[in-house]
Amino acid sequence: MAADTPLARSESAVDPAFRADVLRGFAMSGQRAIPARWLYDRAGSELFEEITRLPEYYPTRTETALLAATSAEIARHVAPGAVVVEFGSGASTKTPLLLRAIAPAGYIPIDISAAFLRESADALAADFPDIRIEPITGDFTRPIILPDWTAAHPRLGFFPGSTIGNLAPEAAVDLLRTMRASLGEGALLLIGFDRAKPESVLLPAYDDAQGVTARFDLNLLARINRELQGTIPLDAFRHKVVWNDFDSRVEMHLEAQRDITFRIAGQDFAMHAGETIHSENSHKYGARDSRMLLRAGGWSPLYEWSDARDFFTLVLARARARPLAP
Ligand code: AVJ
Repeated sequence: MAADTPLARSESAVDPAFRADVLRGFAMSGQRAIPARWLYDRAGSELFEEITRLPEYYPTRTETALLAATSAEIARHVAPGAVVVEFGSGASTKTPLLLRAIAPAGYIPIDISAAFLRESADALAADFPDIRIEPITGDFTRPIILPDWTAAHPRLGFFPGSTIGNLAPEAAVDLLRTMRASLGEGALLLIGFDRAKPESVLLPAYDDAQGVTARFDLNLLARINRELQGTIPLDAFRHKVVWNDFDSRVEMHLEAQRDITFRIAGQDFAMHAGETIHSENSHKYGARDSRMLLRAGGWSPLYEWSDARDFFTLVLARARARPLAP
């Protein structure tokens, strides 16, 4: 596995925030929970890429087809000479579709993984020699300072994949406001939302027959063992997926199958059979919900495009001018 390569090892040198989040998450008195971003180490990111190709996992292929069908129309709303800023770019295959349609002056991919970022930026540079590509390594949930040369260019934020769905509404609004501040007034944002739909479609998408999503989820525990001297017995856990209708989200949990004790970073923990660690949320939005979320985050929805089944929606929004006081 790539996680054993020297590059991956040095990249995943223990992050103090990971240690803090894991220890806090396991010590919680009610529902244990660990922020979903820690699922995406090198091994996790590779497993997620595998998820995107699963027959049950409709979001990636639906959004990609939607973007392919609408990119020319989207491009008509974007001023010439724009700079595209992609949040959490990973190894996106959607990006070339957008870049080809818009022919922007610049492309700024932002990702937490320096290695992933470098690989995908190099590949894009070969295909798009006329676009100035300048990756930024970092956490896209924090404010981004764009390079000086972008100041004179119109900005288009690109946030595909329904990544926004990982965040609970309060955090999603914070992120939208941060993006708005980073991109500036008048900027555009093209954002993907996964739509609310029947459980019979949602649950298999997060609990596939081949068990790839289970491996993705369980990799979190393996990562804890690798990086935080954990002794979690992986065979005692099962990947569990629930549809939380009240909060309109799919939840991934890691459920203890028996009473267990283990250590993490020198601390003792115990779990009873049936207790879970909540490892990820994937919020699903109705059309009005997604527009309301954007407005709450300082963005005015302008246009939106959905596939024929209404499984996924791309929304183009504009950073609203700050309302005049009072
Ligand atoms: C990367 C957050 C869009 O929620 O669909 C897929 C992550 N987790 N299968 C999603 C995920 C399990 C994915 N996002």
